[in-house]
This record gives sequence, C-alpha cells and structure tokens, in this order.
Amino acid sequence: MSYRIAIIPGDGIGQEVIPATTRAMEALPVDFTFVEVPAGDEHAAETGEPLPQETVDVVMEADATLFGAAGETAADVILPLREAVDSFANVRPATAYPGVDAVQPDTNLVFIRENTEGVYTGLEQDVTGDASTLTRVITDRATRRVAEYAYEYASEGEYRSVTIAHKANVMRKTDGRFLRVAREVAETYPEIETADVLMDALAMHLIMRPTDYEVILTPNLAGDMLSDLAAGLVGGLGLLPSANIGPDRAVFEPVHGSAPDIAGECIANPAASMLSAAMLLDYLDESAAATTLESAVLDVLAEGVRTPDLGGDTTTSEMTTAVIERID
Ligand code: NAI
Ligand code: MG
Repeated sequence: MSYRIAIIPGDGIGQEVIPATTRAMEALPVDFTFVEVPAGDEHAAETGEPLPQETVDVVMEADATLFGAAGETAADVILPLREAVDSFANVRPATAYPGVDAVQPDTNLVFIRENTEGVYTGLEQDVTGDASTLTRVITDRATRRVAEYAYEYASEGEYRSVTIAHKANVMRKTDGRFLRVAREVAETYPEIETADVLMDALAMHLIMRPTDYEVILTPNLAGDMLSDLAAGLVGGLGLLPSANIGPDRAVFEPVHGSAPDIAGECIANPAASMLSAAMLLDYLDESAAATTLESAVLDVLAEGVRTPDLGGDTTTSEMTTAVIERID
C-alpha cells in the first residue's frame, strides 16, 4: 500500500529540513506518495493567502501531513491547520540523545499539550484606546479529550507517571476546571501515578530535576512554553519533533519555526523534522520503519555528525546523507 502524505515545507528552513526529511523517508521500505502544497509568508506575499483552501483539501484527503514551519504568518497557517484536523492533542517529546551536549543529559520528557483552546482561541480585543483583553477558554470536553489521550499515551508507553501542569491557585475557574477534569480522568488510570504542579514552579523543577518527570499534561500556552524550555535542556530546537493528533487525522511538525537567522545557509538541523516523520510513521502503524528512521538519526548524532546549532560544521544535506546511509 502507498501512503498519501501531504507535504507543506512552508517558509525559511522549512524549505530545507522538509526536503531532507522526504529524502530520508524515501530510503525506507515504505511506499509514499508525497503531495507538496504551499502555505506561509512566501505564498501569502504572492497570493494574499497564507493557507490556501487547496492545501487544506490535500491535508484532509491525506493519510498524514508533514509540515515544516511558517514565518510571520505562523498563526494563520498552523492554527487553522490544527483546527481542520480537529487536533486536540499536541505531543512534544524532549529527550537528551547520546552524543549531544545537553544541559541535562538524562532528560526524557513528553509534553501532551491541549491544542484547541486556552489563550489560543483568538478571542482578543481592544476595549479602549489604551487597553486590550484576551479571553481564556477551558472546557470539560477539550480537557477530557487531551487528558484521556495523555493517560492512554502513558499507559501504552509504559510510563509510570503523569504530571498535570496548571495555575489553579490564580486562574481558579479556568485552570481549576482543567485540573478537576484531568484528575477525574486520572482516577480511571490507578496504575499511573498522578501529580499536579503549579506551572511556574514546574519551569524551575524541569531545569533542576527533569528526571522527576515523564508525561506532562498541560494547557495550551503552558505546553508551548515549557516544551521550548525543555528544548533548551536537551540541546535546542533543532532536536524537538511534534505531533498534532486529531480523531482521524494528524499533522507532524518540528517544534521550531522558520529560523530566518539561518535560512538559506543549508545548516539547519534536520533532526527535529526527521523525528517528526518517525512519529508520523508510528501514527500510520509502520512502527518498524519509525524505529529505523529514529535510530538512524540518533546513531548519526551519537557518531558526532552535528550541524552548527549542536556545535559542529555538518550541513543539512551532509547530515541527511549520513542518515540515509544508516537506513540502507
Ligand atoms: P525559531 O524556532 O524559528 O528559531 C529559534 C532559534 O533556534 C533560532 O536561533 C534558530 O536559528 C534556531 N533553530 C530553530 N530550528 C533550528 C534548526 N532546525 N536547526 C538549527 N537551528 C534552529 O523561532 P523564532 O526565531 O522565535 O521564530 C522565527 C519565525 O518562525 C517567526 O516568524 C515565528 O512566527 C515562526 N514560528 C513558526 C512556527 C511554526 O510554524 N509552527 C513555530 C515557531 C515560530
Ligand atoms: Mg512554540
């Protein structure tokens, strides 16, 4: 069988790491039909539209989607894309890999971030000439869906604990609800240890003792910020993959953005994007191919093949060739 994969390179280094990733995927013993479609700043500059309907249509017909990054139009691209696939959970593993200089070399975390509401609903307004407001939305339904996903993920992955991040001491209604509903779900998984931690204190604990945590369930903004913090623990954004999971569809993307500071130099680290592709393969139940791709990336890193963000001088395409040699 051939999988139909929507490919959206987007802007900046998306146009470098996504082709590198499809090159590596082509070396795997799995048959893909890649359908490349546009989105992002460049497309918006040409047509006025950051995310054309044709791109959404291809995503909806695909078995899965691989997205690179958008630049300034990121919110106009990734938020509607996540909404189109009804992606209620954003999965962001942050693992320190052998051979990579990490601030905390034993870090092995997975953030499961609520992906549809919180402060990312766009309910913002200017109320007077000098004041603006933002409405934070937390619902039972969205919290239950993401919490069930987190506990199922922990259970299947043989993790021992789930930590619920919140700030219910201050945001009593919204995070109070998030915590209460997540705790209700937790009760149905007695074999998994549950803790809840105030998100600001968690930011400190993660830096000092990341090994105290495994799966971390978070509201939307907290997950965005804490996963970038965790990227800093393991060697940078060039290493963090992610999945946007919906009931029937999913979009996979590196956590990083378009990195305009290094775009066009062919030095972007393709690991985050390749590890996102490994998550995509897992989602398609191609777990052998997922392991092959992930191991190839990790072996290459362990051998000391490193792009400049990790202190080396390997180019994107040299690293890609090294990964492909490992797969073959
Ligand atoms: P960024 O993730 O693009 O870059 C942050 C820093 O990390 C930069 O110094 C960059 O060079 C480095 N970096 C990131 N990925 C790397 C890689 N694969 N290899 C080597 N170095 C890497 O975030 P920033 O600078 O905050 O945003 C740049 C643009 O990206 C903005 O226009 C922003 O809106 C957009 N963005 C888009 C996202 C998306 O499409 N999902 C997510 C985050 C930002
Ligand atoms: Mg982010």
